[in-house]
Amino acid sequence: MIVGIVGGGQLARMMHAASIGLGVRVKLLAEGPEVSAAQVVHDVVVGDYTDPATVTEFAADVDVLTFDHEHVPTSILTDLEGRGVVVRPGPAALVHAQDKAVMRERLASHGAHVPVNEVVATPEALGAFGDRVGWPIIAKTSRGGYDGKGVWKINGPEHCQVPFEGLRDGIRIVAEEYVDFVRELSALVVRGATGEAVAYPVSESVQTDGICVETTTPAPGLTRDQTETCQRLALDIAAELGVVGVLAVELMEHRDGHVIVNELAMRPHNTGHWTIDGAVTSQFENHLRAVLDLPLGDPRPRARWTVMRNILGGARDDLVGGLGGLHDPALRVQLYGKTVVSGRKVGHVTAYGDDLDDVRNRARRGAASFTGEDL
Ligand SMILES: Nc1ncnc2c1ncn2[C@@H]1O[C@H](COP(=O)(O)OP(=O)(O)O)[C@@H](O)[C@H]1O
Ligand SMILES: [Mg+2]
Repeated sequence: MIVGIVGGGQLARMMHAASIGLGVRVKLLAEGPEVSAAQVVHDVVVGDYTDPATVTEFAADVDVLTFDHEHVPTSILTDLEGRGVVVRPGPAALVHAQDKAVMRERLASHGAHVPVNEVVATPEALGAFGDRVGWPIIAKTSRGGYDGKGVWKINGPEHCQVPFEGLRDGIRIVAEEYVDFVRELSALVVRGATGEAVAYPVSESVQTDGICVETTTPAPGLTRDQTETCQRLALDIAAELGVVGVLAVELMEHRDGHVIVNELAMRPHNTGHWTIDGAVTSQFENHLRAVLDLPLGDPRPRARWTVMRNILGGARDDLVGGLGGLHDPALRVQLYGKTVVSGRKVGHVTAYGDDLDDVRNRARRGAASFTGEDL
């Protein structure tokens, strides 16, 4: 069995780690010879994932094609499926994780709560949207964004040209009402091709400048009813869209307790990194199991609380050297082999246990020892 993964980031690297235990081979289409996953995968093709010929040739001898990111043009994937390549998640599902305008429209028709939104063609139309729904507003590129790149909070009409500067062809601007949420949640589920599905506990996630910095699982204070609502919502979306693999539904929790869908990801997700050490089966293993038509693994947590803290590039360049300064033997560490750039995701740590304050403090202290920041 060969799983072809497009994209050589940390998600592919951690999928590769899971593939080792399953005895499954991974072939990688990487952006360069030294990217995170290319450092560890044996069978690597370096090439451009936006080039149809490159992706087609790469996919020729894999049993299933899956992804580290959602940026492969949908048309290439539709074409591959037409040639008989097994693409999971398939393009008809994946487009809802690729294009935020398509996703908003589809989810609204499905009855999910989404922010008031509109595709706008000009700065004037964006301004008119803000005048109508009230300032501030959010503007996003429909495609190509990640880690908050491609998302702007717009405080008034005078800033409305910003999202349109340097806008690439085929990318639209989605205007959204600014949701004054109390916190962000993530409902992570995995669905197999036959419809079998499992739901992980719901996580609380903290985003700073659009980048996930910390997750706590289960989300503190979330009632059983709220948890089931979030899990049911994610399972329904996965079934409705025909997702195969991981689906992460990013949610915003409103003051009155109801949840609003932010966006979808159809690949292992940062809010599921805690599962490597904190769940019986990791999201990476379950993603592989799903795309390979294998029975899914148990998603239950191993401990009462699990906190994952991202390591964002900071003062220290030598991350592996930082392991020497770590004095918490129960802390779990994943370093991605990436060059340290300020604010870039270069690793994460996970702590788990019975006492939430203690678990959170250990995760924060552990991450800080790699970034050089003082707590
Ligand atoms: N409509 C909104 N109202 C308030 N905050 C938002 C809204 N949309 C996005 N955000 C904030 O911006 C972050 C990044 O937006 P998102 O659409 O998830 O982009 P990305 O693709 O970069 O993850 C979200 O996690 C949330 O913190
Ligand atoms: Mg997001």
